[in-house]
Amino acid sequence: MTRGGAVRRARSAVVLVLGTVGIIGCGDDGEAPTSPEPEVTWYRDIQPLVERSCASCHDGAGVGGVALTDAATAQRLASLMSLRVSEGDMPPPVLDPSCRSYEGAERMSLSHEERLLFDAWARDGAPLGDPVESPPPRGAADTIEDPDAALEMPEEHEVSLDADGNEYFCTIVDNPFSEPAWVTAFEAVVGNPAVVHHMAVYRDLGGDAGVGYGVAPGTRAFPCRNPVIELDWQLLHSWAPGVGVTRLPDGAGVRVEPGEQIVLQMHYFGRRGAGARDRRDRSGYRMKLSREPPRAEVYMDVFGPVPFTIPAGAEAHTERSSAPNEGPPLLVYGVMPHMHVLGRSYRAWIERDGGASECAARGEFEFHHQALYMFDEPLRWGAGDRFVTECTWDNTAESEGQLSLPPQDVSWGEGTNQEMCFMIAYLSKE
Ligand code: HEC
Repeated sequence: MTRGGAVRRARSAVVLVLGTVGIIGCGDDGEAPTSPEPEVTWYRDIQPLVERSCASCHDGAGVGGVALTDAATAQRLASLMSLRVSEGDMPPPVLDPSCRSYEGAERMSLSHEERLLFDAWARDGAPLGDPVESPPPRGAADTIEDPDAALEMPEEHEVSLDADGNEYFCTIVDNPFSEPAWVTAFEAVVGNPAVVHHMAVYRDLGGDAGVGYGVAPGTRAFPCRNPVIELDWQLLHSWAPGVGVTRLPDGAGVRVEPGEQIVLQMHYFGRRGAGARDRRDRSGYRMKLSREPPRAEVYMDVFGPVPFTIPAGAEAHTERSSAPNEGPPLLVYGVMPHMHVLGRSYRAWIERDGGASECAARGEFEFHHQALYMFDEPLRWGAGDRFVTECTWDNTAESEGQLSLPPQDVSWGEGTNQEMCFMIAYLSKE
């Protein structure tokens, strides 16, 4: 991933930080700070944040490479950490929890005050402080102890990264279901955390996975470079580092069927030149099932404007759709925003009859970090209410994901050189 786009997108965050520094009162003339504020230390202030919001990628094994959980490494990289954090690109952007709270939000994001702590720590010379103040060790990771079903890549995959450090790989996995069932919890089982950047599992309703990528139907494993999702793929789950076990609320489940085609889509990422690393992966999923129909059968639906054209050179082109609920009241359990590489930001909300509106999703879009966000409280989409989805793209030459120079008009579509604006949502009847 190139830096330019992320830096540019995060400019407002930098301004925000610059506008409020001084909490530790640096002397103007370069003298030692004289502020009575206690200094920010690794053990008391920074380590807990790193354990909480960085360790899923930066524990030495994860995709972030450097082990920021190691005090000496963190000290050495303190300025870089502060820079990346203030730019807003670390941790990678996620759905803004102040729009709507969701499972894992506090792990996956930093508050404004927390970002300032990184800055203060670096400017203070990254002191360690007193180990007595270090947080208790991280508890065991959340996991499904006794899964009812499992998916696994049929064989180990030798990851082969392109010049930008990416590989997109799809594989049809064995369908483990012998009768219709309802998934009540999903856990991504990451084979090799050093290279797995993001993964998703779909069912292909047409049973012809791969045709959209030009391979013969029935091909078990094929490259699926780029954002493309075949339109008859229905998302079951999507995972990115930091996302734990996804549990549906009591009485809710996602239906799965025996015999249908299940596709695992892997996005691998690694640094160029880090060739010595083990690059084999065999990932999968563990699931909890209910054999009985749940009270709420959860299904996936997709919202967003179709079709559209993003003019060449547009710096912030926005498209919007508004979908009225013409049936009975529904509940929205979670969303996964999906755009392609020019995607910059998204918003979604419910517009109630009478004019009130309720935020569903808002955030900077990061193509490399697409996750499904499960709301703490389902959002009600009442009869007559409108589900509004809005996306903004950067189609300038400087855009992080720009594929054509000079930029071209970009149309809607599943192709590499096209764009999408989807809010993929989990819904059920109320
Ligand atoms: C979801 C995964 C993820 C999380 C969470 C994450 N990072 Fe990263 N980080 C990465 C990846 C991938 C890279 C390498 C690509 C890049 O530099 O953008 C990276 C690179 C970095 C780098 C540059 C390292 C170098 O040697 O160039 C720093 C510094 C950094 N991250 C800091 C942080 C901090 C601080 C946090 C927590 C507040 C954090 N990251 C959370 C994925 C993550």
